[in-house]
Amino acid sequence: MKGLNTMTRFPKNFLWGGATAANQYEGAYNLDGKGLSVQDVTPKGGFGPVTEEPTPDNLKLEGIDFYHRYKEDIALFAEMGFKVFRTSIAWSRIFPNGDEETPNEKGLQFYDDLFDELAKYGIEPLVTLSHYETPLHLARTYNGWTNRELIGFYERYVRTVFTRYKDKVKYWLTFNEVNSVLHAPFMSGGIATPLEELSKQDLYQAVHHELVASALATKVGHEINPDFKIGCMVLAMPTYPMTPDPRDVLATRQFSNQNYLFSDIHARGKYPNYITRFFKENGIKIQFADGDKELLAHHTVDFISFSYYMSTVQAHNPEAYSSGKGNILGGVTNPYLESSEWGWQIDPIGLRLVLNDFYDRYQLPLFIVENGLGAKDVLVEGPNGPTVEDDYRIDYLRKHLEQVGEALEDGVEVMGYTTWGCIDLVSASTAEMSKRYGFIYVDRHDDGTGSLARYKKKSFDWYKEVIETNGANI
Ligand code: BG6
Repeated sequence: MKGLNTMTRFPKNFLWGGATAANQYEGAYNLDGKGLSVQDVTPKGGFGPVTEEPTPDNLKLEGIDFYHRYKEDIALFAEMGFKVFRTSIAWSRIFPNGDEETPNEKGLQFYDDLFDELAKYGIEPLVTLSHYETPLHLARTYNGWTNRELIGFYERYVRTVFTRYKDKVKYWLTFNEVNSVLHAPFMSGGIATPLEELSKQDLYQAVHHELVASALATKVGHEINPDFKIGCMVLAMPTYPMTPDPRDVLATRQFSNQNYLFSDIHARGKYPNYITRFFKENGIKIQFADGDKELLAHHTVDFISFSYYMSTVQAHNPEAYSSGKGNILGGVTNPYLESSEWGWQIDPIGLRLVLNDFYDRYQLPLFIVENGLGAKDVLVEGPNGPTVEDDYRIDYLRKHLEQVGEALEDGVEVMGYTTWGCIDLVSASTAEMSKRYGFIYVDRHDDGTGSLARYKKKSFDWYKEVIETNGANI
């Protein structure tokens, strides 16, 4: 670690903080009028089977009980010096089924209380409007975002929360990892048809509906409060060719385009030319309604936000190599990188590349709204009570932040950085509690046992110092 007096490379108003999502930590899944969301019937995580009803083995139903403990948790975030806190509003707390005319007042009140509590400490909320938690009724009755009617339901929901919190929240994200609908359509897009049976036509039509809804939210948000900063949120994954063989380079380009599609439309306001051929070859004809084109063109985002966990490698002949088992978007294993316990390949330099790529492409401010290491922590007795000696997490975060510093020197404009799961919460992909990311340990286990007590890990003090020194200690 460099000395505390080292000059920082981070801008003065850099937004340091942490990120969460309602369905992974609130719990209280059926309290105060909340309806079910797609998460309540996926006990094994976003890639697992779907149940008819919520089952007791689903850890997300209780989460870490943030719903009742938010004051205690926010006090800990404030102790670390958070400038910003990313969370989502659970759509089904506000509109339990998603298609009602009037919202659930108790749900709205909860977020009023939460934002007021953050304001006490001067912590800026960063709110995701839809984070893998589409109301279940919209999945079962309408087949989620394949149905154009979802745009109207989403508009009613965002209008309601924009109006209610217009003086409490400034930063908004329209859809979490919007590109993940291509890989996990139920979790991401509330699409009940299993991926194997879903036609490409229906899948890309669903994508179109989400993109139009996102532009509509940007329009409505700016009308309600012109000071709102509204961003898209994509799962970012730098993509490397396995070899310099031009066929591998081409495969890399084609894979990247599948992801760029989403940020390109959000930032440039139109479908890119490169997708025309893919649509043609796959028999996809996107149905545009009157006004869609104008909406996309005139209501582009104020900033680009993204999650960053890993890079991927593509080859024209992937069968010739071993494949990256845990890299969620697939690809072959990168022999130069180590992996987390879940097989996610760790690549700090990839973060610098992504930042440069996005900035070069759009010249819009960037916000890293997820990054972190999921690891199996062991609670030990420390001088001040139970703690976790998570040097591996500190090492991971430091290496990534060093690369953010490099990107800043490269000339990239970065608004802020929120680590994923700043307090331990339930994993999205595996629904485990043991895949921990937090600075704060939560006593809950994969079998659902535990007191839910909170303990500070070693990384808690480290991150506090990062924020205090505005990154000079990295
Ligand atoms: C992102 C999601 O994909 O990664 C989060 O936006 C998720 O919801 C995070 O929790 C980490 O993934 P996982 O599967 O380890 O929880």
